[in-house]
Order: sequence, then C-alpha cells, then structure tokens
Amino acid sequence: MRQPVINKQFIKLELSREEERVFRLIADCAYELEIRAYLVGGYVRDQLLKRASKDIDVAAVGSGINLAEMVASQIQPQPVVTVYKNFGTALLKHENFEIEFVGTRKESYQKDSRNPVVEGGTLTDDLMRRDFTINALAISLNQEDEGSLYDLFGGMEDLKKKTIRTPLDPDITFSDDPLRMMRAIRFASQLKFRIDVETFKSISKNKDRIMIISQERISEELNKILLSEKPSVGFDLLFKSGLLKLIFPEIERLYGVEQVDGKGHKDNFYHTLQVVDNVADRSNDLWLLWAALLHDIAKPDTKRFEKGHGWTFHGHEVVGARKTEAIFRKFRLPLNEKMKFVCKMVLLHLRPISLSKDEVTDSAMRRLLFDAGDDLDALMLLCESDITSKNEYKVRHYLRNFELVREKLKEVEEKDKMRNWQPPITGDLIMKTFNRPPGKEIGIIKDAVREAILEGKIANNFEEAFVFMLEKAKEIGWHL
Ligand code: CTP
Repeated sequence: MRQPVINKQFIKLELSREEERVFRLIADCAYELEIRAYLVGGYVRDQLLKRASKDIDVAAVGSGINLAEMVASQIQPQPVVTVYKNFGTALLKHENFEIEFVGTRKESYQKDSRNPVVEGGTLTDDLMRRDFTINALAISLNQEDEGSLYDLFGGMEDLKKKTIRTPLDPDITFSDDPLRMMRAIRFASQLKFRIDVETFKSISKNKDRIMIISQERISEELNKILLSEKPSVGFDLLFKSGLLKLIFPEIERLYGVEQVDGKGHKDNFYHTLQVVDNVADRSNDLWLLWAALLHDIAKPDTKRFEKGHGWTFHGHEVVGARKTEAIFRKFRLPLNEKMKFVCKMVLLHLRPISLSKDEVTDSAMRRLLFDAGDDLDALMLLCESDITSKNEYKVRHYLRNFELVREKLKEVEEKDKMRNWQPPITGDLIMKTFNRPPGKEIGIIKDAVREAILEGKIANNFEEAFVFMLEKAKEIGWHL
C-alpha cells in the first residue's frame, strides 16, 4: 500500500452563488463547534471533472449530525434534517441540493457482511476507507486552509490519467465491500475511465464475494451502466472479470459461437452489446435500454441447427418476453408498466424488420400499429438498432428497407388511424345487445370483430362492425 502523504494544493472551484453561500455557512458552523469540515467523495470528483452534481458529501472531524443540525438552524425557512443514527450521518435537503454530513471515521469489516464496524477517526482514516482514489479527495472548508485539496493517494493524477484505482490494497477494498467491484466497472463505463491493472485483477480474484450484495444494489449499478454513453464498456468489463456469470448468467450465456458443418451463428453477446450501444446513441430511456439488453435473451434456449437451412432461433421473442419478466423479478426491478413495456419490446422486436422483407400487406402494417400502439416509435428505434453486421453493404441495405417500412407505416396510420385504436364493438355493448352476462363468448365475438377489421375484411366503422357482430353471434347460436 502507498503510504498516505498529505499532498495539499489549493483548488479554486467553480461554484454557484448558492453553493458558495452554503459552504460558507458550513464553515462558520464548524468554526463555532470547533470542528473541521471538508467536502469529500463524489462531489469533489465531479467538480474536478466539471460534471454536474447535486449530491454534496461533507465530512466533519467530529459529529456530522451536530454540524448538520446547526447548519439547518441558520437557514430560513429551516430545512428538514434526516438523521441516520445507526450510520452517524445526517441528510439536509436545501434548494435542489442534498447535503450528507458524516463524521470522519474508521471502518472495519466482517467476512460475511458489507456493513462495517465504525468508530471515529481522522480525515486520513476516513479517506483511506473509501473505494477509489478519485473518490478519496477532500477539499477544506475551514478558514485556515479554505480551498486546500487533500490528496493522500494520488487521486488527482488518477483523474488526469482517467484511472480507477483503490487507495488501499484492492483485495482489502473489495473484500470489505464487494459492491465496489460493480462500482469500479460502473465508473469506468460512466466516466470513460480505465481500471488499473492490479485493481482489475483483484476484481476477478474477489468476484465470488459479490454474492453477499443485495439484488437491489446490483441492479442500481446495472441501471447506471445502461445509462452511460457506451454501456458495452461496462458489460464487457463485467464479462471479462467473471462477475457477469455470477450476477447475470442469462446474459453471459449469449457469449460464444457454435459451429456445425462449418456454419457459425452470430456471437449474441457482442451483438447484444452493439444493439445496446446503438440505442444509447439515440435515447436515454432506461427501459428501452433494458429492452435492448434483453431482446435476444432466449436465443440460447431456442437455438437449432437445421440441415440445409442453418441456425434458427424460432420463437426466441416469445420465450424472451417470458424470461424478461423473470429477470425483472430477480433484479427487483419495477413489476409495473415499465416491465410490461420491456416485455412488449422483446416480444415485438422482429416485427418491423419482418415487414421489410416480403411483399407486405396493409393488414400486417395495421396489426403492428395496433400491437405497438403508443410504443411504436420506441419499437422502431430498437429494431433499427438491432441491425448490426460487419458488412456495411448489408447494413445500408437493411436500413434503406427499414426506411421504406417507416414510410409505409406512416401511410397506413394516416389512412386507418390504427395507433391507440379501440375496436368499435366493446364487450359491454355485446352483453347489452344480447342481454347476456359476462362469459367467454363475449371475448370470442369481440376478438372476431377486431380481427376482421385488422384483416381488412370489414371497414373500420361502427355500422359494419355491428353487422359483423350480429353474424358472428348467430354462428354461436345467439339471436337478438
Ligand atoms: N463510497 C465508498 N464505497 C461505497 C460507496 C461509497 O467508499 N461502496 C464512498 C466514496 O468515497 C464515494 C462516497 O462514499 O465517493 C459517496 O458515495 P455515493 O454517493 O454512493 O457515490 P458517489 O461517488 O457520489 O457517486 P454516485 O452518486 O454516482 O454513486
């Protein structure tokens, strides 16, 4: 381990007027309480990288809670301070900032938990317990050395060199809190940094410790990787470190190419990463990014080699939509309309491109407009992002065809207004017309009317639909 050396230099931060006012107030209160206060952690890192940050971490050599309460008492109207006694921290929400106050501390960890035993410590102890050198920088708020940067582990150099490195022996840092292995990879993806060789080796070595981390924490990091500019960086590092196999075996299984009769299929892992990057280039919708990640999730389950035809993955979109739900449950992701959206995207992801291949009927177009509804634009974006090939000619050819699909969809939509379309005959109307209680026949008649309109057998209006309903009811023995 490098010996911590206090490397002090003066830093002039670019602060907003509000930040300046609050920091001055914290400094004054710390002076009154005869303690020292420092800006630390992610806020300092982001300031130095000129990234926007609304979460401010303040470390006090003394009670962080007392400092937070005194600061709050000086602000009008008085902000709420939430005290977390067990952690010795206090959270103050002011304007659009969240300021977390903590007393500088020493931490020691047990083997089976990421919750440390905590005791008071010096600023050096506090910086030493942190995850990465770039997160272990402190800036003094105190009168005598205001603006001085405390850099004990070469964090400034690592910021310049864009390197993620642990301040201590990485085996200690990661074994103490294995979530940090995910954080290292997430920061590499988010900040476009590389992970120092020794630090990365240690992730591979300690990977099994990830099993003590809760699914919620893991999915939080996965979400942040997905939202980074090039998510493939993070997923590739997860793969290469061996973590992916432990936390997300369903994705890891996509890796590899099988050969039969000299014919191989695409490597579905790297294809998936390319699709995720393509979506990330055009959208920062987290759920569409999840859809990109999961769109081919069932390819390994449905893979077949058909003689004379090659590799097929029939039905992978249907099995994939089912697996998507299981994955949402496992990662404790929301089981609401977000999940439904991702399932829908996985289920429909082949439909637009299939429309570009054959002679396409208006009814196939209407069906897609009806099935995708409001999510058509998202589906088109996903589907376009799914066009990946090393052969540029092929990509251009597909993209051109895809443009034609877009145009045709637009034409059909303008003509038939199928998006968000509600069939003119409802279940209620069928029950009232025939004076029948709810039952499966109602669904049969209703679906038949909808299908007839989608197929173009009857026009999309109430009169024709009503006549069709009467005929269909007659077929099952119902009369007015
Ligand atoms: N920290 C740590 N180990 C962790 C989590 C946090 O050492 N597992 C320390 C780091 O010094 C970090 C600080 O606590 O900078 C604040 O943590 P947090 O707010 O979670 O992370 P940030 O670094 O601010 O980054 P982000 O908000 O993007 O997660």
